[in-house]
Amino acid sequence: MIFLPFSPCGRRWREAPDEGYLSTKTQTAERYPSPVTNALPRVRATLSHKGRGKEHKMTSPDLPAELKAALDGKLRGFSRSDAAGRAASISKTYRDGGGSGAIRSEADALAYALARMPATYAAVTASLNALVEIRPDFAPKTLLDVGAGPGTATWAAAEAFPSLQDFALWDTNEALRTLALDLVRDSTRLRQINYERGEARAALAKADTADLVVASYMIGEISDAEQRALAELMWAKTRDTLLVVEPGTPAGYARIIALRERLIALGAHVAAPCPHDGDCPLQAPDWCHFTQRLQRSRAHKQVKGAELPFEDEKFAYVALTRAPVAQRPSRVLAQPTVSKVEIAAKLCTPEGLAFTKVPRRAKADYAAARRWRWGDAVS
Ligand SMILES: C[S@@+](CC[C@H](N)C(=O)[O-])C[C@H]1O[C@@H](n2cnc3c(N)ncnc32)[C@H](O)[C@@H]1O
Repeated sequence: MIFLPFSPCGRRWREAPDEGYLSTKTQTAERYPSPVTNALPRVRATLSHKGRGKEHKMTSPDLPAELKAALDGKLRGFSRSDAAGRAASISKTYRDGGGSGAIRSEADALAYALARMPATYAAVTASLNALVEIRPDFAPKTLLDVGAGPGTATWAAAEAFPSLQDFALWDTNEALRTLALDLVRDSTRLRQINYERGEARAALAKADTADLVVASYMIGEISDAEQRALAELMWAKTRDTLLVVEPGTPAGYARIIALRERLIALGAHVAAPCPHDGDCPLQAPDWCHFTQRLQRSRAHKQVKGAELPFEDEKFAYVALTRAPVAQRPSRVLAQPTVSKVEIAAKLCTPEGLAFTKVPRRAKADYAAARRWRWGDAVS
């Protein structure tokens, strides 16, 4: 079976920095060429979706200029070493199983945003790009951002969907809420967001339904029982699509899979990344996750004590829709390996897991498969 790229647009900002869990024997093969993001414009691009009579937009994983400027403005007069110390302590809390409760002050919130907002923005954007690729006609007007923190997913959704007009955000953390409101103050589009403080389940019970509901890097902060209740509440408030993004760890994947299963039982359909609504075909220790490369600003490098000018964020996600999904392309589950004789790729297909090999002698197919990237939709 030959798989062709589902859409050339979907790979525009996709990266291939390292290998996913690829359990074939061809893993030592030559790597793909270096990532393309560095060479690409860092602004939103409009790419035509040739041959489908549609045009859809893919969004850059790098923070939009307005948000960067707002963060830079907040940074003035703020010690980078103090921010680095706070960011390190917040990261340690996360690694030790704690949550955003460690973010208490304005300085904590800013340190968190400097360290993590670029990566979470990139992961949400990559997930939204995958959704847009599958559903190019989706034009939500209303957004509900659950556990919105500094407003990361709202910024990403606003970039991905010019159609969005109403933005409702909820979070328990006052420091992050205050920062989010500061960051949107000079934004023409987001100045009018409605950001309320409140516990997600209580807040959702009284929230209006929205076309697009997003929970980004949030459900891992609550207990399993709370996650089950929250999943159902978020779904009840979803008019069209629910997107949940988590860290690309086995634990993050497990949370996504549990929510996915629960909501499919309630009638949801998977738009991305899965090409089916059945059980996930992956077996432990394998897990479904993706990676997105993003540029690091000087401040970002300083706060993270990092040398490299880029970062690779690993994430897991699911986009669930109310209506059945018309297009179900297969998904590339790890960076394909390229050898002198063939390209080997691990795919999730509508029929299950497939380890496909494209021999070099099949010239046209080989050339097409060379462009595959981890996370691509191919059909
Ligand atoms: C890791 S942060 C992610 C923030 C934001 N969604 C992002 O992607 O940058 C998790 C957020 O979830 C919020 N949160 C955790 N439990 C919550 C709850 N029960 N109700 C509302 N918000 C909650 C935290 O306050 C924090 O802002």
